[in-house]
Amino acid sequence: MQRVYLDQAATSFPKAPGTADAVYRYMTGCGCNVSRGSYAGAYSAEELVYDTRMQLCRLFGAEKAAVDPKNVIFTKNVTESLNILIKGLLRPGDHVLVSSMEHNAVMRPLVQLEKQGIRFTRVPCAEDGSMDPADAESRIEKVTKAVIMLHASNVCGTVLPAAEIGNVCRAHGIRFILDTAQTAGVLPIDMEKIGADAIAFTGHKGLLGPQGTGGFLIREDLAAELEPLITGGTGSISHTEEVPDFLPDRFEAGTLNLPGIAGLNASLNWLLSQTEGSILAHELMLTERFLRGMEEAEEAGLLRIVGKHGTEGRTGVVSIVPTQTDPAELAYKLDEEYGIATRVGLHCAPSAHRTLGTWPGGTVRFSFGVFNTEREIDEAVEAIKRMLV
Ligand code: ALA
Repeated sequence: MQRVYLDQAATSFPKAPGTADAVYRYMTGCGCNVSRGSYAGAYSAEELVYDTRMQLCRLFGAEKAAVDPKNVIFTKNVTESLNILIKGLLRPGDHVLVSSMEHNAVMRPLVQLEKQGIRFTRVPCAEDGSMDPADAESRIEKVTKAVIMLHASNVCGTVLPAAEIGNVCRAHGIRFILDTAQTAGVLPIDMEKIGADAIAFTGHKGLLGPQGTGGFLIREDLAAELEPLITGGTGSISHTEEVPDFLPDRFEAGTLNLPGIAGLNASLNWLLSQTEGSILAHELMLTERFLRGMEEAEEAGLLRIVGKHGTEGRTGVVSIVPTQTDPAELAYKLDEEYGIATRVGLHCAPSAHRTLGTWPGGTVRFSFGVFNTEREIDEAVEAIKRMLV
């Protein structure tokens, strides 16, 4: 039985061509650290890291936002990026807005900070996961410091109005931090057009790179406001025990995940060589095909589609709730009998499930990627129907 991998929202598979080879090449051919050695191997590793920062600037339209390669900070994932941004920025008495669709990568740091007198308001999203920017604006308080929001839901794929929220933030002089875990590499993201002060990304989903890679792009003035969360050796200004005040060193203590960055460099090369919009078009074509199959099953009373029924304003992530069967049982049987990999439950996003009306039972989530095929979608649709009749 051949595996059908429909859990791309958790991590993409396969990775972009050349990614695994680049990790191997770095580990067997270079292997040197950066910012620490003064020999050829160290310089070539340095170049690789700098080149990857430049690729990320290109991908996120950063040049126009006056953000250059030094403003790209590497971390191990989007969760670490969001922790650095949230905990570095907020002080007792501050207030922030989030959507009611957030993942725990945003919610857990905020709930932790509540004990220090930092408050948050969830902007309630509709049952299809969509958000009204005017509603968000009406909830801004005098002490609101930022909006921190995901770009698209990891539960149902609904895209949130990032550019509109960016405008609201500019109009009120507050910060905008965007979590692109589910959209980077798929949706066009232009830091300037969106008006984001920081863009947090992960390398192992739509960027098609290795796990353990991620980071954030940050505007200089926001970076200056942030207290670093993790500090230590950077290879720079070694004569002092003070934390560097320049980027990226201020937020990049310790040795970077260099094999991971080598892999990410290769996957970004591949991504940046694709025709603009082609990956999104492919994923939405698969989503449309899957949704049509699920609609038939929904009409037959076998299941409920959660979130949007069309491909407008969404990514290739679809959640369903079976009518008669437990979601966990459906997911288990899909794997056991058909080799179809999905993710079941609450997807680290309890607030999103409350919004979507799927708390506490959760959903079975199907998520599609650039290397999934129409045949795989048809197999999944057939299997779901057969299991649920
Ligand atoms: N947050 C990731 C997911 O949605 C891991 O599966």
